[in-house]
Amino acid sequence: MQIKDRPGGVIGATVEDFDHRTASDADLAALKHTVYTKKIAVLRNQDLTPRDFLALGRRLGRPETYYEPMYRHPEVPEIFVSSNVPENGRQIGVPKTGKFWHADYQFMPDPFGITLIHPQVVPTRNRGTYFIDMGKAYRELPDDLKKEISGTRCRHSVRKYFKIRPHDVYRPLSEILDEVERKTPAVVQPTVFTHPMTGEPVLYVSEGFTVGIEDEDGAPLDEELLKRLFEATGQLDETFAHPGIHLQSFEQGDLLVWDNRSLVHRARHTTTPEPTVSHRVTVHDERRLHDGMGAA
Ligand SMILES: [Fe+2]
Repeated sequence: MQIKDRPGGVIGATVEDFDHRTASDADLAALKHTVYTKKIAVLRNQDLTPRDFLALGRRLGRPETYYEPMYRHPEVPEIFVSSNVPENGRQIGVPKTGKFWHADYQFMPDPFGITLIHPQVVPTRNRGTYFIDMGKAYRELPDDLKKEISGTRCRHSVRKYFKIRPHDVYRPLSEILDEVERKTPAVVQPTVFTHPMTGEPVLYVSEGFTVGIEDEDGAPLDEELLKRLFEATGQLDETFAHPGIHLQSFEQGDLLVWDNRSLVHRARHTTTPEPTVSHRVTVHDERRLHDGMGAA
């Protein structure tokens, strides 16, 4: 196994000659270290069956099965399927997932540390996923903004992007919204937390899931403050030209493993729909999202 950093301090590293059948525990530890320090590891030339993929995920941590069944792989439920390609006339997984800035499971009480994506059908044109490093973004915030958010907390919810399920057809919208609030009530996290694996402060906000900001006593703060954070970090830039935005491309056979604590990501928009299928496994590592969890 060979790990190659990208030149010029660009996030991400390329991993060559990784074979899940022969990889040692030391290889897995090195891979994990790369994920935390370089944020994205791209493993080249992988060909994993759904079961192989889950087994690899298990070597990195404890898999989290997505809470909504319609996203699950029919044979391996721990795999989340994003697909616009029906199989034998049947929709597998969910099309058009994640086309907004977010960290995975940010709206849940206990988000996982690592996301793995194994693209199955790669679009020929608009391929890739956008990422923003929210550790770097925090370091680059103006001092007055850093001071303003010090000690604050944010509320995260799936409500803006919850996808209507087949059985929701003919249900009143208000009933669906009530169900979302009951099953997945908004969660509160510090606006900035210390990454437990690297010690890096991370600005934990996303335009898709972060719905409010409050002071340490829980009193709501002006939403404008959140907007300024989204603006400063590039999450309102619809041209994707903001210097903080990194487009991670991939090819058939790539497997992307990334740090779900310090990165927010967004699926690339396609103006002309192309067939695209990807499998995702998400795992909890040895630590919670941050060490303050459960203490508040
Ligand atoms: Fe995602």
